Amino acid sequence: MQTIKVNTTKPYKIIIEKGLLSRTGEEVRQVTAAKKAVIITDSNVAPLYAKTVAASLENCGFKTAVFVLPAGEENKNIAAIEGIYNFLAENGCNRKDVLVALGGGVTGDLAGFAAATYMRGIDLVQIPTTLLAQTDSSVGGKTGFNLTAGKNLAGAFWQPKLVIIDPNTLNTLTAALIADGMAEVIKYGCIKNADFLQKLLALPSVIDAAEEIITECVQIKADIVAADEFESGQRMLLNFGHTLGHAVEKLSDYSGCSHGQAVAIGMVQIARLAENAGLTKPGTADLIEKLCLKFGLPIASPYKMQELLGTIALDKKSDSKGINFVLLKKPGEAFVKNFSFKQTEDFLLNAE
Ligand SMILES: NC(=O)c1ccc[n+]([C@@H]2O[C@H](COP(=O)([O-])OP(=O)(O)OC[C@H]3O[C@@H](n4cnc5c(N)ncnc54)[C@H](O)[C@@H]3O)[C@@H](O)[C@H]2O)c1
Ligand SMILES: [Zn+2]
Repeated sequence: MQTIKVNTTKPYKIIIEKGLLSRTGEEVRQVTAAKKAVIITDSNVAPLYAKTVAASLENCGFKTAVFVLPAGEENKNIAAIEGIYNFLAENGCNRKDVLVALGGGVTGDLAGFAAATYMRGIDLVQIPTTLLAQTDSSVGGKTGFNLTAGKNLAGAFWQPKLVIIDPNTLNTLTAALIADGMAEVIKYGCIKNADFLQKLLALPSVIDAAEEIITECVQIKADIVAADEFESGQRMLLNFGHTLGHAVEKLSDYSGCSHGQAVAIGMVQIARLAENAGLTKPGTADLIEKLCLKFGLPIASPYKMQELLGTIALDKKSDSKGINFVLLKKPGEAFVKNFSFKQTEDFLLNAE
């Protein structure tokens, strides 16, 4: 079993091992004396894994109840939060009980926000089941939901008591969702570990190496989060590829292009632009491109740079300080560079 400690204000452990789901109860018991454990999951994950998790919790003396959210990003809203609150209240949950988030990033973000706010905060255990959730969203304590005005506009920082990662859950994930998660995996290598990128390049199978991949990514994210729990500095590096990526996602109306696909395009493009501007070591963009292609991710934007620029500018208009781009000095080394709007225009358009 791999164990990673996250040194936030209240430190916690992330444990990673194939088959861990069936030992949920023993592990959760070590971090709480709760009588009740409420499992929050979604309609796709519930039939696959809720029974195993509930049985293990019951075996360790927890009373359990399962709340099933409708699956999908479109349900990541205030109505889902209200549904969770009502379920917790109806089941007589108090501040000593524990909430268990079992599912992808949507479930984790919703259950996390409910845990942060129900009775002003109850314990949370994350059991992420997508590659994205296992390497990214379950670590770091960001929780929240979408408003009509935009994604993740409401939320709270709420660190879990424990994160349990069972890479076996990836066996039921679609290839598209594995690819989506791989975009973030590549991102971690880009910003912090060039050797990891070389390992990925030589990798025969994601599933076979899942434990190793997840451990490396979680370690990188845990270090960054511990250094910058509330996102005032270093944590920004995690946005590599995301400024252009978010613009691609938005232009595709959040349906033509998934988050991972958009980030892949964003990483390749920003690396190429920065290379052309002499800010990034030559060959970096080619390496990222190779990795994206290997894992089934797109590398070319369906939108013109002018369109992306318009979307980015619109997003950041209220921020007079210009735009922060995360760039790579070389693979494995990232930095933040602030551009004025005029500089952004030159940077994005001149190099095309
Ligand atoms: N909190 C953070 O720091 C953070 C970071 C990155 C992303 N996010 C959020 O995460 C969300 C995206 O996460 P996601 O891609 O996991 O989405 P998701 O939770 O919607 O999961 C994707 C799909 O996979 C299904 N699924 C989950 N696990 C499965 C399994 N093991 N087998 C089969 N199907 C399974 C789900 O039901 C869903 O249909 C976004 O809402 C994003 O904003 C949060
Ligand atoms: Zn992302």
